[in-house]
Order: sequence, then C-alpha cells, then structure tokens
Amino acid sequence: MKIAVIPGDGIGPEVVGQAIVVLEAVAQKFGHRFEFQEALLGGAALDVKGVPLPDETMEICLKSDAVLLGAVGGPKWDNLPGHLRPEAGLLGIRKGLNLFANLRPAKVFPQLKSNSTLKEEALGEGIDILVVRELTGDIYFGEKGRAKIPGGEKAWDTAVYTTYEVERVAHLAFRIARGRRRKVTSVDKANVLESSRLWREVVSKVGEQYNDVELNLMYVDNAAMQLIKNPHQFDVILTTNMFGDILSDEAAMLTGSLGMLPSASLGEGRLGLYEPVHGSAPDIAGQDKANPIATILSAAMMLRYSFYLEEEAQAVENAVSKVLDQGYRTSDIATPGAKIVGTKEMGSLIAQNM
Ligand code: NAD
Ligand code: IPM
Ligand code: MN
Repeated sequence: MKIAVIPGDGIGPEVVGQAIVVLEAVAQKFGHRFEFQEALLGGAALDVKGVPLPDETMEICLKSDAVLLGAVGGPKWDNLPGHLRPEAGLLGIRKGLNLFANLRPAKVFPQLKSNSTLKEEALGEGIDILVVRELTGDIYFGEKGRAKIPGGEKAWDTAVYTTYEVERVAHLAFRIARGRRRKVTSVDKANVLESSRLWREVVSKVGEQYNDVELNLMYVDNAAMQLIKNPHQFDVILTTNMFGDILSDEAAMLTGSLGMLPSASLGEGRLGLYEPVHGSAPDIAGQDKANPIATILSAAMMLRYSFYLEEEAQAVENAVSKVLDQGYRTSDIATPGAKIVGTKEMGSLIAQNM
C-alpha cells in the first residue's frame, strides 16, 4: 500500500509525523506493509520549487493508493498573489485528483463532553454528524478576477455548479446516509443564489431515488443556528464547498476542539486524500503543542476508505479512545486534572495502545 505523505506547513509536519508513527504500529500489529513517499505542497513547495503544487507532487499522488496531508499556509506566504498562495496548491491537488466529496465527521468522544462549547444537557448522548462537503466546485473554482474602476478596484468570485457535479455528491451522501440514521439535510442559499437553486432542484430529484432516506432542505444561515441550537436533528449534512468549509469548523467546536476532526476527500476511484479539518496553526507551530488526533483519525479513515481495512481503522479509533480514558490530553482539550502531553507523546501513546 503506497501512501503519498504531504506534511505541508506549520503544524502539518508535526501532526503527520505522529499519524505515521500510528500507521507503523498498525503495520506491525496486523502484518501490513505501508510504503511512504514524501511530497511537497504549499509553502514548503514554494520555498524549494517556487510553486505551491509542483508537478512531481501530482505524479507521486497519482502513483499512490492514498494521500496523507497535514495542512498548508502561513503568514510567510500570505501576501503572494492568489494563484501562488499555499492554499492554491491544496485546491489544485483536490481538483487534480478529482476528489469531489469531502467527508467531515463530527463526533463527540464521551471523554471530551466537557470540552464541548455546548452545555452537557444539550449534548445528551453526544452528537454524531457527517458533513458531506462538495469539494471541487462552487465559488472556490469559478471565474475570479480584479479590475481597476474609478475610485478604486473591483474584485469578483463566481459560484458555479453543474447538474452533474451536484448529482454525484448527492448520490454519495444518500448512499452514506443509508449506512447511518437515514437522514440528509441539504444546506444551501437557494433564496438568493442561482447556483443554490440548481443545487436544491438536483438534490431533491436525486433524493426521490432514495425513498428510505429522509431529505430536509435548509438555508445555510438557519443551519448555522440549528447546529448550535439542536445538533441532534442532523445526521448527514450535504452542502456546497463554501458552506461546508464553514459549517464543518462550526461542527468541530461542538466536539470539543478542531484538533479532533478528521476528513476524507474521495472521488470516483479508490484513491483518497486524508487530512485534518484544521489548518497549519502558525500560532502553535514548532512547539510540540498541536493535537495530532485529527490527523491520526484521518489515517484511520484512510485505512477504512482506501484500503478497506475496517478492523485496523477501528483499532486506531479505539486506541485514541483508550488514551483519552487514561486521562492524557493535549492542551487544546485540557480539562482540570488531565495529564497534559505534547504532540509527540500523544502520538506515541496512541501507537502503544494499539
Ligand atoms: P487553523 O485551523 O490553522 O487554526 C485555528 C485555531 O485552532 C488556532 O488557534 C490553532 O492554534 C487552533 N488549532 C488548529 N489545529 C489545532 C490542533 N491540531 N491542535 C491544537 N490547536 C489547533 O486556522 P487559521 O488560523 O485560520 O489558519 C492558519 C493557516 O492555515 C492559514 O494559512 C490558512 O489558510 C491555513 N489553513 C489550511 C487548511 C488546510 O491545509 N487544510 C485548513 C484551514 C486553514
Ligand atoms: C479547509 C481549508 C481550505 C478550504 C483552505 C485552506 C483552502 O479551510 O480544508 O477547510 O477552504 O477548503
Ligand atoms: Mn476550512
């Protein structure tokens, strides 16, 4: 099993390093062989190659069975033109690998209930939401530009969706819902945006093919509010690229910390890209403070979705749970009386508990 490893910037290399420690433990325990090949992306690529997404990186990814990615971006590269920013490299790789669906599960570990910003009684038995975010369309990839006008400039970004793009991600969301609580909430801004009106029409039509799955349609402003008010009403949230970006960070906080949230980006084939939902966290980079669990859980998603190793994926998730049971916490999920550990120690503990 060939894994392309893209550490990226900021805390990226720190958290990816620990996901690899855990994958090595999986290999040892279950008798697998993972072959890791490193590739450059984002600021790390800019510094060496002058571009955020070098051709070699795409080649390495295309030759691999899965991609494990940390995060990209940072203040050093913030003033570059848009197409040269580290973030453009990330968007390029998602588009280049045709990874149109981004699965972002937001689940509360029972040990972390008190870390949620929700009151314990609002959390109840905990929440278990899956955001299915469309990842290769919308305002991220439509025409954009800047022009001088009298008195200043104008700048624009265009939100575009095609029937086909909405159909394929909608089918995926409904299929996944069948393996869960059979409820899809499609989130858009169809009261204002034409692209959202197409989104809503297509999702409703696709939904007719899944009579056993309940479909709800919700505007994004209301969805942002409902997520805080009553997160239990959600099972699968199917939404556009932009709204999915925002709502998944919001859902993350319900679970206690952005440092806990994994993601899987999938396309038609088996090749997937696995990365934490969080970014490069320049404020804590290089200090051995970052929580590696989001990336370790992303590696578990890789085992499940790209390698079909369900038992191994669960073993990783159980190891995370055991370490939390033992009272170990990185500082973002600290609670009174917890044993505070750094990035490396957290990774080793999880590997040891495999
Ligand atoms: P961020 O997610 O990097 O950080 C937001 C806050 O959460 C910070 O306070 C950070 O310290 C904290 N945090 C994030 N991950 C953590 C972890 N694993 N453990 C503990 N704390 C954690 O978002 P930002 O500050 O808005 O963006 C920083 C840079 O990251 C920007 O350049 C942005 O473009 C980039 N970014 C990249 C990705 C990605 O590569 N997928 C995602 C989001 C942001
Ligand atoms: C994410 C990030 C990216 C996005 C940025 C860095 C391009 O915020 O993965 O959530 O908006 O998709
Ligand atoms: Mn984001």
